[in-house]
Amino acid sequence: MDAFFEKELATLKQRGQLRDVYTLPQTGGEITVDGKTLVNFSSNDYLDLANDNRVKQAAIQTINEQGCGATAARLMTGHLRLHEQLETELAHMMGTEAALVFGSGFLTNLGVMTALGRAGDEIYADMLNHASLIDGTRLSKAHPILYRHKDMAHLESLLVKSKAKGKRIIVSDSVFSMDGDIAPLAGLAEIAERYNALLVIDEAHAVGVMGQDGGGACRIKGQEIKPDVVIGTLSKSLGGYGGYAACSASIRKFLINNARSFIYSTGLPPVCAGSGREAISIIKSNPDMGKTLLDKSRRFRDLLSGAGLNVPEFESQIIPILVGDNELTVRFSQMLWNQGLLIKAIRPPTVPSGTSRVRLSVTLALSDETLRNSADMIAQTAKKAGII
Ligand SMILES: Cc1ncc(COP(=O)(O)O)c(C=O)c1O
Repeated sequence: MDAFFEKELATLKQRGQLRDVYTLPQTGGEITVDGKTLVNFSSNDYLDLANDNRVKQAAIQTINEQGCGATAARLMTGHLRLHEQLETELAHMMGTEAALVFGSGFLTNLGVMTALGRAGDEIYADMLNHASLIDGTRLSKAHPILYRHKDMAHLESLLVKSKAKGKRIIVSDSVFSMDGDIAPLAGLAEIAERYNALLVIDEAHAVGVMGQDGGGACRIKGQEIKPDVVIGTLSKSLGGYGGYAACSASIRKFLINNARSFIYSTGLPPVCAGSGREAISIIKSNPDMGKTLLDKSRRFRDLLSGAGLNVPEFESQIIPILVGDNELTVRFSQMLWNQGLLIKAIRPPTVPSGTSRVRLSVTLALSDETLRNSADMIAQTAKKAGII
C-alpha cells in the first residue's frame, strides 16, 4: 500500500505541488530560527494579539477557573456562561441579533452551508471562495452553481435561469484569503434581495480590521449591508481559535438544531472563549487598530508596486505577489527565506492553476521600518529570481 502513497507524492513533486509542514520556535512578527531572524509575513494574527499579554492573561485565568476542555458537545452537556458572554459580544461586534460559536471557522462554514442548503435549494458561490465554503457547499444537498470571481453580471445571468424548488443562497468571502481583494458587497446584497436569496458572507479576514467595532467589511461606514449570516473566526485577528456565525436569533436556533459540526462536536474550549473575549474588548477600546493596519499595508503595497512587483491594487492587509509558475514561486519563497523573510508560496489547488504566488500578510507586529527594509529586499530578490 505504501507504493500508492509514494506514487501520489511523486506526482505532486513532479507538478511542483508537494507541500510539507515545518517547525518554528515561536509565533510573532520576528522569529529566530537557528540564530537567524525571520520577518514573518505569513501570519494571520493581523492585530498582533496572539502574544498580547492581556490576551494571554485572560487565557491563563480562564484555564485556572474553568479548566481546559468543554468536555462534550454543547447540546449534550450545556455550555459555560463564558460561551454565552462570548456570543453576546460577538453579536455586538458584528452588528447582529445573535451569534453561535463553533470549534473553528472551517467547522462553522461546514455547519452553516450544510444546514442551510437542502435538496431543491441552489447555492450560488464565488469561484474563489475559501475551501471551507466550497466543502460546505459540496457537502450540502443543494445544487452548487459557481459564478465568476466578483462578477455580478454573471451571478445575475445564472439567477435568471434558476430552477430552485426551494431556497436560493448566495455565498462569498468578503476579503478573499489568497488575493486580498474585497467582494462587491453592495452588489451582492442588492442581487440577493431582488432574487429573494439568502446571503452568507465570510468575514474571516476582515474581522477586527474593517468596519464599525471591527465587525468586518459589511460594517464599513456608508457601505453597510446586512447579510443573513456572517461568518467569522477567532483564529486570525482575534489571535486565538474558534469560529462563529452571526445572524438573527431564529437562524441561530435553526443552526443549533441543524448544523452537524455544531451538534456532533465538542464545544469550544473555555480558554478560546476567554482569550476571544479579551481580544474583542481590546479591539473595542482601540477602534483605530484596523485603520492603522490598513494604512501600513497600503504604504507597503505601494513600495512593492513602485519597485516593479506584480501586486494588485490595494484593498486589504493581504498582498499577493503574482509569479505564475509553481517551481519559480517555491524558489522565490526559498530565496526570500534565505534573506530573512518568511513569505510562503501559494500554489494550486489553493489557487487556480497558473496563478501561483507568494502571499504576504501585514500585521501590526511589523514596524514601518521593517516593512520598508523588507520591500527593498523583496524587490532585490525578485530581480535575482527573474521575477521583475
Ligand atoms: C475565508 C476563510 N474562512 C474560513 C477560514 C477558516 O477559519 P479557521 O482557521 O478558524 O478554521 C479561513 C481560514 O483559513 C478563511 O480564510
